[in-house]
Amino acid sequence: MPPIAPRKLAEMLPRARDLDRFETAPRAELAAHQRERLGRTLRHAYENVPHYRAAFDAAGVRPDAFSDLPDLARFPFTTKADLRANYPFGMFAVPREQVARIHASSGTTGKPTVVGYTRHDLDVWADCVARSIRAAGGRPGMVVHVAYGYGLFTGGLGAHYGAERLGCTVIPMSGGMTERQVQLIQDFRPDIIMVTPSYMLAILDEFRRQGLDPRASSLKIGIFGAEPWTNAMRSEIEEAFDLHAVDIYGLSEVMGPGVASECVETKDGLHVWEDHFYPEVIDPATGAVLPDGQEGELVFTSLSKEAMPVIRYRTRDLTRLLPGSARAMRRMEKITGRTDDMMIVRGVNVFPSQIEEKILAIPALSAHYQVVLTREGRLDGMAIRVEARPEADHPETRRAAADRLCQAVKDTIGITAAVEVLDPDGIERSLGKARRVVDRRPKD
Ligand code: DLL
Repeated sequence: MPPIAPRKLAEMLPRARDLDRFETAPRAELAAHQRERLGRTLRHAYENVPHYRAAFDAAGVRPDAFSDLPDLARFPFTTKADLRANYPFGMFAVPREQVARIHASSGTTGKPTVVGYTRHDLDVWADCVARSIRAAGGRPGMVVHVAYGYGLFTGGLGAHYGAERLGCTVIPMSGGMTERQVQLIQDFRPDIIMVTPSYMLAILDEFRRQGLDPRASSLKIGIFGAEPWTNAMRSEIEEAFDLHAVDIYGLSEVMGPGVASECVETKDGLHVWEDHFYPEVIDPATGAVLPDGQEGELVFTSLSKEAMPVIRYRTRDLTRLLPGSARAMRRMEKITGRTDDMMIVRGVNVFPSQIEEKILAIPALSAHYQVVLTREGRLDGMAIRVEARPEADHPETRRAAADRLCQAVKDTIGITAAVEVLDPDGIERSLGKARRVVDRRPKD
């Protein structure tokens, strides 16, 4: 995508007076706010959630052990297993009657993790998402097409109320019915689409199937998240639709979408909305807090949540913290992967995002791919299944692309993978988060 024309960018930048206080406040002011909020949250959790009381007592810390930000490291972590063990409502810190909304993550195994929000929590959430949309270049009066799933998943409703809060016209489309998505984009002429990047690719295919030029669509901004995606994928989508693609991050346990977001003018990582969520990055093996700039597992403590405060929640997402740029609040680098999607193949650690980058560097290959892991005898096998672009229809072109990908993966990741180049549509489309890894190895 060509660099943003200065006039176009100026139109997208918020006026200083529209920004929230902590988007520009000096760090010392933010730190004072965080200290005060952390102290309050630790007390709220300890006094109202039996799990936190027991966990703090077992670690030998009381909320009054906290006086400054580094003291947080003395408090125990919270994990998904803790949420499951307290299913469904055991982590709530307010009487159930004060809980205005429930969401839950589907979870591939076992019980879902359940989260709750008071009216005030829903208000803060809408504010955070509105701030994210504004950072992406959104303005009151714009039309927002929400294609994240509505329901227990936080994507649809989270995006919806944020867009309403900003003063946009919202189209609550949800995921699925791809043909209809395209029709409504053509008819309602939205400025912004909010959707997973992998489902955006399915929408792109549908545009082309209908013989429509995606670059001629009304879309100016795409706000993509809920799954890892690379900068190579960003270029792919920006080029295809002639829009600005920005990243939005969040997780239901901490709130939902809008925990961190990119700014359209920089696209250099996601500003963590640190006035509501306190981030730490830890060494996933030892739990030690790492200095800013070092990669590790992201951990969050909520600063304003009432219904379900979370203390040092281990996200399993891998990233590093960077200083603020377009906003004063720190950034997290685009997520490279999750500790649990890391594939260990013949002893080598591999993330799907590393493979995605290699695929998208090869013009004949599309961004629809899946990695299949198998085991024969004691040896792991890795197969990369990837679709050819429709224009790459010659068997020779496909063979050359397969050889190139195989070589690139071998040279950079150090694994010999079997590459299978499929016809367009050869990989099942997901309506939300894509399933990038199919692990068929026996569990040992
Ligand atoms: O995916 C919330 C969300 C909805 C975020 C819509 C952004 C947009 P969960 O279903 O609880 O919540 O899944 C959270 O998804 O821990 C990450 O592993 C992953 N994830 C979310 N956003 C991103 C992103 C929603 N921008 C889990 N980049 C998180 C990479 C992401 N991974």
